[in-house]
Amino acid sequence: MFKAGSTLYVSVHKFQQKYLINHLNIQVLINLQKMLRLQKISLFNFKNYEIKTFAFSEKVICISGPNGSGKTNLLDAIYYLCFTKSYFSRQDHLHVREGQQGFRLDGYFSVQGKEEHAVCILRENGKKEFFLNDIRYDKFSAHIGKFPCIFIAPDDVKLIIGGSEERRKFMDLLIAQSDPGYLKNIIIYTKYLEQRNALLFTMRGYAPRHHELLNTLDEQLIRVSQILYQTRCAYMEPFIETVKELFKKIMGSDEAPEIEYYSDLKTRNMHEILKQNLKKDTESGRTTEGIHRDDLIITVNGKPFKNRASQGQRKSLLFALKLGEFEWLSRKKGISPVLLFDDIFEKLDEHKIHNLLTIACKEYQGQVFITDTNAKRMQDIIQHYDPNFQLISL
Ligand SMILES: Nc1ncnc2c1ncn2[C@@H]1O[C@H](COP(=O)(O)OP(=O)(O)O)[C@@H](O)[C@H]1O
Ligand SMILES: [Mg+2]
Repeated sequence: MFKAGSTLYVSVHKFQQKYLINHLNIQVLINLQKMLRLQKISLFNFKNYEIKTFAFSEKVICISGPNGSGKTNLLDAIYYLCFTKSYFSRQDHLHVREGQQGFRLDGYFSVQGKEEHAVCILRENGKKEFFLNDIRYDKFSAHIGKFPCIFIAPDDVKLIIGGSEERRKFMDLLIAQSDPGYLKNIIIYTKYLEQRNALLFTMRGYAPRHHELLNTLDEQLIRVSQILYQTRCAYMEPFIETVKELFKKIMGSDEAPEIEYYSDLKTRNMHEILKQNLKKDTESGRTTEGIHRDDLIITVNGKPFKNRASQGQRKSLLFALKLGEFEWLSRKKGISPVLLFDDIFEKLDEHKIHNLLTIACKEYQGQVFITDTNAKRMQDIIQHYDPNFQLISL
């Protein structure tokens, strides 16, 4: 494979970007992608699974079974092995099978033919351990991005209609998967912000005054904020263009909402912000402005998208954001992420399903897992996009 930094990679990469953004034709990209496949997964005492192994032999895997049979849990187990945590809940113990003390997940991946064995263990004492090829990670964050993966569930519209925290999390995960330094800076920023807020809390009700510790924390926040802001700007601008093109493609329309990366740092730097807000911050006992309030502002004709958009438009934007993430990671990492589609047939009309599956199963090279309660419906649909799909019935 071409390495980032080599002349050939850079020139092809630039061409790809232009080509992709203009035409969303993935063919050029496909030829340069490293193939990522999950070949086998074993679950032990994970949610409703006591002990179970699934072998995956195809690019498109259809998983069917009645409600409550463990379809979403299986996708979440895959997500765990890619991100060291659940897509749904931060509390690891909730994933232990009822009545048991811990769980174990084994994932056998292949990356361009090279076998990689990932293991996640939650011990009886509640301690989580994660191994790659028998080597234990000191920091789970070091695993993020090794096996890029995207979870898509139509009920996930909180990304569109929820608070700004949802979209910040999305931006952070998007960037962190291809920029390990970014995640480190987010962790540093969060730590200093918490310390600053705790200090401000103790200063509430007093007149703002010189404070040695506050100054030190401010210096750190100013330093990291600038890096984070610049990184987000650099990443979000091209990403937003990709998302808008995908939205048009899924909707089958010429129009897309306006999406803007918003930050308090757009008009003032963090030094000015902290200085100007000192009185307000000490009164309220928290840092009122900064990078921790960034958002993606989505509008149609200047009005909030979430109020104006139909259900179908919301879902299409959700898919566009997630598929945008897919394209992004493919480009940045040279690996097609694994796509996890949960229950998409229930929630989307036929036309949008068609557009979505054309992109995901035909144009993209990544492995796709799709769940549905109705095996026949799923088979009838998927065979038009990839006749070699594998069906797993739970
Ligand atoms: N910690 C747990 N221990 C045992 N069973 C669990 C646990 N958490 C969830 N479940 C069970 O998993 C099932 C839901 O699985 P899920 O993957 O959401 O089903 P599906 O997506 O097929 O509808 C439910 O029957 C639920 O009781
Ligand atoms: Mg489910």
